[in-house]
Amino acid sequence: MKRVGVLTSGGDCPGLNAAIRGVCRAGQESFRMEFTGFLDGFRGLVHDRTMELESQALSGILTGGGTILGTSRDKPHRMMIGGKEHDMTQEAVKTYRRHRLDALVCIGGGGTQKIALRLKNVGLNIITLPKTIDNDVACTDISFGFDTAMNIAADAIDRLHSTAMSHGRIIVVEVMGHRAGWIALGAGIAGGADVILIPELPYCTREVARAVRRRTKAGKKFSIIVVAEGAMSREQAKTVRRLASAKGKAETKKEIKKVSEKLQEFHEHHLRHTVGLTREIEKLTGLESRLTILGHLQRGGTPSSADRVLATRLGTACAELISRKTYGVMVAARGDGVKPVPLDEVVAKKKFVPLDHPWMRAARQVGTCFGD
Ligand code: F6P
Repeated sequence: MKRVGVLTSGGDCPGLNAAIRGVCRAGQESFRMEFTGFLDGFRGLVHDRTMELESQALSGILTGGGTILGTSRDKPHRMMIGGKEHDMTQEAVKTYRRHRLDALVCIGGGGTQKIALRLKNVGLNIITLPKTIDNDVACTDISFGFDTAMNIAADAIDRLHSTAMSHGRIIVVEVMGHRAGWIALGAGIAGGADVILIPELPYCTREVARAVRRRTKAGKKFSIIVVAEGAMSREQAKTVRRLASAKGKAETKKEIKKVSEKLQEFHEHHLRHTVGLTREIEKLTGLESRLTILGHLQRGGTPSSADRVLATRLGTACAELISRKTYGVMVAARGDGVKPVPLDEVVAKKKFVPLDHPWMRAARQVGTCFGD
């Protein structure tokens, strides 16, 4: 009998419960495993807060959004306790040993993969699954959560079309995605957006306005502009590049801190950039404009069938890999199959939208403007 721990970490997303169920059901039915869930991400591992994931606890969770285990963005090596940062890595290791675990399954996005690698490096048997609505985890074709978020955003764009059309307005729709443009691109194509702005391709606001004016001339009185939360104008992108290069060149701790604070300040200010963009486009086109920020709607609710299937595929493969003692890997999706990828390869990069991606080409071919 193998004893396996499971936790979900980072921002929640649809499909987490399907993944928990996939790992545990396969482990219990096919590989003689018992499962303990740690609550609220790595915080539960550090403080040893658990729930038993026996058969009853897994009933009826496949279709539910969120995670029955709870989640957090806490990192054991930099844990905030009583307003101060503490390195609690050894507490996490102690909990793992106390439960006599043979393996720990960490389900999460890019940040989780990094923490998982640290725990692997202190001697724990770690295996991970890629989840994120942003679809930016490297080395996997896709992560669960993304398909549902893309569907929710596409559905919202569909609905915004009719109101934009009725009023002859521009509607700017801000979607999530962190620094990647996958949700904007996918939902923008699916929803027939006229303009799609993604972080990977800094935009020129005048080009966006020109695209809208072209539509007006062609008799189309409204436009839908989908903007990824991380998208930037060319000027903003220049500022980020300048600060990043200054950070690279900084020699003293004090200099690095100063530039990092400036970068942080920029990103915080940038959180509200779509408000400014909407105003500017209204000014440049003379068309009444409105902004819709979809926010956490994109992470809530029931997972799509594609995400349930993906999470079940990856989860069950994870149990099989544990039975073969394959550790230190992320269970990646490759075509119709899965592939265990070493964690150090996964954390070395992020998956951004390549500018020559077939989705980009398809969007351009139907006349979508990328503001470039
Ligand atoms: O990583 C998922 C994500 O939803 C990003 O798209 C977004 O930038 C971020 O999390 C929001 O995080 P929080 O829920 O902590 O505000």
